[in-house]
Amino acid sequence: MSACDVNVIAVVGSGLIGRSWAMVFASGGYRVKIYDNQPGQSAKAVTEIRKQLDELEEAGLLRGALPASRQGALLSSHDDLAQALDAAFFIQECVFEQLEVKQSVFQDVERLVGQDVILSSSTSALVPSSVFAKMQNKSRCLVSHPVNPPYYVKLVELVPHPETATAVMDTTHTLMTKVGQVPVLFKKEIDGFAVNRVQAAIIAESWRLVQDDVISVKDIDLVMSEGLGMRYAFIGPMETMHLNAPEGLEDYMRRYGDGITRLLHSAGPVPEFRGDGAKKVTNEMYQLIPGDESHLSARKERRDRLLMHLARLKDDHQ
Ligand SMILES: NC(=O)c1ccc[n+]([C@@H]2O[C@H](COP(=O)([O-])OP(=O)(O)OC[C@H]3O[C@@H](n4cnc5c(N)ncnc54)[C@H](O)[C@@H]3O)[C@@H](O)[C@H]2O)c1
Repeated sequence: MSACDVNVIAVVGSGLIGRSWAMVFASGGYRVKIYDNQPGQSAKAVTEIRKQLDELEEAGLLRGALPASRQGALLSSHDDLAQALDAAFFIQECVFEQLEVKQSVFQDVERLVGQDVILSSSTSALVPSSVFAKMQNKSRCLVSHPVNPPYYVKLVELVPHPETATAVMDTTHTLMTKVGQVPVLFKKEIDGFAVNRVQAAIIAESWRLVQDDVISVKDIDLVMSEGLGMRYAFIGPMETMHLNAPEGLEDYMRRYGDGITRLLHSAGPVPEFRGDGAKKVTNEMYQLIPGDESHLSARKERRDRLLMHLARLKDDHQ
């Protein structure tokens, strides 16, 4: 029996990401024990997730083979950490993005579980060597960084601590695949992993183009959503280049490599993202979509609804 066949997973922290992970694991048939250090918070999470599962089922968008009622029954809430961790083979930590909080949670977890239990962090911006610096046994620790919302955006970045065992990476890869996520394996840790590094490059160039009065906020967003994003939802930049020249990637670079190098050299310094220097960009954005709760919620709902449909389209056409 492999570790993934043991069917209990603990989720520590029941906010936005903890809830999403719980739904993903339950969709794969795992029993999910949810813990939060705010009393009553995990119970609230379970109630809300069950409601969401029913709504997804009704809309035909539920993931996994089990009906919503069975997936909902796999969830339990716990105000006691030891109780939540009992029998789990995999712990997914989803607490606040603060180094001290995460380190302290993992120290508590380490005291309560056996040596073969995998300890996985959802951190977006902390490298494993920081998150797990205080652990006794780092070989079973890794970062499994989801993209929000993980229920619809399936990529998960698996990033090892320098001491993480290969078997731990493999088991986590198998688990993530089994529950329908799309894991990518890092060979070593790096600040920002890949998603945030690529995203930062896109943000920087978009910001510069607006700040330098080359294009509007509205139009640079269209460059992504109606242009590059259309194909990037199905093929990445590497395959895009490979397919965009008659003889593939080498041919592409023969034709366009000098041009790409020239553009990169002309890119300019890292822009000012805050303060007076950022006002031009932020004012334009707030004019398009005001920053109050009702406007932002409406756009977030639209985003999630469209992502749901895109996820389904990808499932149907892979
Ligand atoms: N929100 C995103 O877009 C996103 C995307 C990818 C990864 N992440 C990462 O996921 C993690 C969680 O983010 P979130 O957006 O769900 O945050 P959140 O604020 O919505 O939820 C955090 C939860 O953790 C609980 N918590 C705090 N300290 C705790 C402790 N000591 N023990 C147990 N529970 C505790 C809080 O009560 C809260 O319910 C962060 O590390 C974040 O960087 C977030």
